[in-house]
Amino acid sequence: MKEKKFEWRTAISKVEPNKIIIRGYPLDEIIGKKSFGEVVYLLWMGKFPTKEEGKMINAILVSGCDHSLAAPSADATRFVASSGVPLQASVASGIIALGEYHGGSIEGCAKILQEGVKESEKQNKGLAQIADEIVQKHHLQKKRILGFGHPYHKSDPRTKKLSKLAEDLKLYKKHCKLVFEIEKSIENMLNKKIILNVDGVIAAITSDMGFPYKYGKGFYIVSRAAGLVAHAIEQEEREKPFKAIPLDQIIYDGPEEKTL
Ligand SMILES: CC(C)(COP(=O)(O)OP(=O)(O)OC[C@H]1O[C@@H](n2cnc3c(N)ncnc32)[C@H](O)[C@@H]1OP(=O)(O)O)[C@@H](O)C(=O)NCCC(=O)NCCS
Repeated sequence: MKEKKFEWRTAISKVEPNKIIIRGYPLDEIIGKKSFGEVVYLLWMGKFPTKEEGKMINAILVSGCDHSLAAPSADATRFVASSGVPLQASVASGIIALGEYHGGSIEGCAKILQEGVKESEKQNKGLAQIADEIVQKHHLQKKRILGFGHPYHKSDPRTKKLSKLAEDLKLYKKHCKLVFEIEKSIENMLNKKIILNVDGVIAAITSDMGFPYKYGKGFYIVSRAAGLVAHAIEQEEREKPFKAIPLDQIIYDGPEEKTL
């Protein structure tokens, strides 16, 4: 007889009739005892966080919850919601908008920081030198350094709060040091003040907590989804359908009208 071939496998969770196991723990035991952030950590890292890590991850998730209509993701959700699609479609459009320049820069910044710290250990170079090299390389390649800059905030209130919390919880290590060295290098080498934003500080703290950079976008996806649900429903309930750019704000600069 042919051996049965198993096509699907997972180490994340297991379901049997009347039983749900998450990373080895029965979900009904977790419910009511662990916070949402601690369970996110469990799902991604395969174990529960320490008390300090749990507090930090909850704070990170809270920090990304919403940024009003001053965020491409909220605008995308509200445009799409106004066209009369189901909730999941409008929220998904906001999630899709989490790209390199908004929310999605955590991944890219964490990659730079994780490579930078490795390089510093391997080559026995100081973090300030690594920071200068990162800034120089981006400058020569005419690339933006992900995790820095903000169109509205001169000092991102979330950055200060999260980095102070990481310090208090003793989770502020080499990646956090490097990200602040980069902020200094930008000012010294480019002669510009480009602030460390919320994505950059989350990238640094989660790297210090041991998260591989590939989870970077996950922090914003999970956190911002809550705000996007609120925007989709508010748009539908309070506003007129068919949100579009007013005609008097659209400039047509194509060919002159002509006859066939
Ligand atoms: C977020 C962002 C789009 C805001 O941009 P902004 O404040 O509107 O600034 P501008 O796009 O007008 O750029 C102004 C100048 O600063 C530079 N600049 C802005 N952010 C920069 C960065 N992260 N790295 C290097 N240079 C940067 C621009 O190249 C530009 O230089 P120039 O005047 O010589 O052309 C921009 O800072 C950015 O792309 N950051 C990286 C992505 C990121 O971290 N996004 C998360 C935001 S929370």
